[in-house]
Amino acid sequence: MLKHDYMEINSQGHLVIGGCDTVELCAAYGTPLYVMDEDRIRSNMRAYKNSIDKFYSGHGRCLYASKAFSTMYMYRLAGEEGLGVDVVSGGELYTALKAGFDPAKIVFHGNNKSYDEIEMAIKAGVGRLIVDGDGEIEKIDAISKANGVVTNIMIRVKPGVDAHTHEFISTGHIDCKFGFAIENGEAAKFIRHAMTFENVRICGLHCHIGSQIFLFEPFRHTAEIMMNFYVRLKAELGLSLAELNLGGGFGIKYVEGDTPVPFEGYIEAVSDTIKDICSANGIEVPFIYMEPGRSIVGDAGITLYKVGTIKDIANVRKFVSVDGGMADNPRYILYGSEYDAILANRACDEAKEYVTVCGKCCESGDIIIDRCHLPKARSGDILAVMSTGAYNYSMASNYNRIPRPPVVMVSNGQHKLIIKRETYDDIIKNDLL
Ligand code: LLP
Repeated sequence: MLKHDYMEINSQGHLVIGGCDTVELCAAYGTPLYVMDEDRIRSNMRAYKNSIDKFYSGHGRCLYASKAFSTMYMYRLAGEEGLGVDVVSGGELYTALKAGFDPAKIVFHGNNKSYDEIEMAIKAGVGRLIVDGDGEIEKIDAISKANGVVTNIMIRVKPGVDAHTHEFISTGHIDCKFGFAIENGEAAKFIRHAMTFENVRICGLHCHIGSQIFLFEPFRHTAEIMMNFYVRLKAELGLSLAELNLGGGFGIKYVEGDTPVPFEGYIEAVSDTIKDICSANGIEVPFIYMEPGRSIVGDAGITLYKVGTIKDIANVRKFVSVDGGMADNPRYILYGSEYDAILANRACDEAKEYVTVCGKCCESGDIIIDRCHLPKARSGDILAVMSTGAYNYSMASNYNRIPRPPVVMVSNGQHKLIIKRETYDDIIKNDLL
């Protein structure tokens, strides 16, 4: 039963997060309920910022990859902590702008941005557009010209690094829909083409090798490949690039045995690699961007469910059903992801059996945790699933017309609703008879 160090158990044996008793939170807001610890999010953000200050003389910026958990409150937090943000759609951009986020600190991604999304970004004055495919730069150039601006772009490349993570979240290799590969010459060819447009300015290159990565070396190796490519571009095209975006992908602890890369060490190694290559080749040390999503919010969130039906199938397995499921956390059904949980109302009870925690959706694969070590659960218990802060709410659906749960932010014993629970009327609001 994993419990993060920053959480506590009170004298009633209840799990406490951000100074709030999880059983009381359930009584106040109902279940299922996403709970996010604001102090943990802020300290994760500061760890990146401080490491860039310490190892790279502050010559960089951490961008929160908001796809991990996009809501107005998060853009406010990122702004207060001095971070930029990465958005990947008109919807994320709209949310950031509505939250009052500084457009100059927004980086806009996407392998198939629509004309309208590009126009929206340019009109809003977004800081950097990441060009990801053929045809896009023509649109950016034309829209920029029509609006009388020069748009700052970065070009996404595939460094050809194997990130040793799940195939669906691995993005640095040639057989991937994002960006232009370095190894077959398409990146250099595209950059040469991009240099011919008058209404764009190429600030640098972007790469992102994948997500939930525990190994240190792929990140360092990526920085090396990228910098060697910068050296080549300078020599072959006379192009000096002042910025480098290294993406995100830092793994977090979901279950015992997960060993996240400490960001400090990572940023130190990457910084050294970049500086060494720059000084050996007489090129300028670029301003760097890092784009963590999961490692900012992932371990700061939990989901609280109420235990319902329990089905003990002799010699097969015991199913413990909860009142949510793949609609609020589709990561098991998508990636076979592992999670751990604790009985929040009996957090001191000893784990006695292995059970399968399943949801209430009409689908056999609707599992949250395939093998979960728990005390003997009873109907009515509160189950807290750990590390659900990233890619849970943001990937939730209304499958089976289940309303999405609310999100509560906790800090110092205070709780604040930051996303309301959906109602049945929300569910039918776009239906027409
Ligand atoms: N930058 C780019 C360009 C990305 O594509 C991503 C994630 C990130 C940054 C942030 O990566 P992170 O630090 O969060 O690993 N739904 C999947 C994860 C998909 C990640 C997509 N891109 C999951 O639930 O594991």
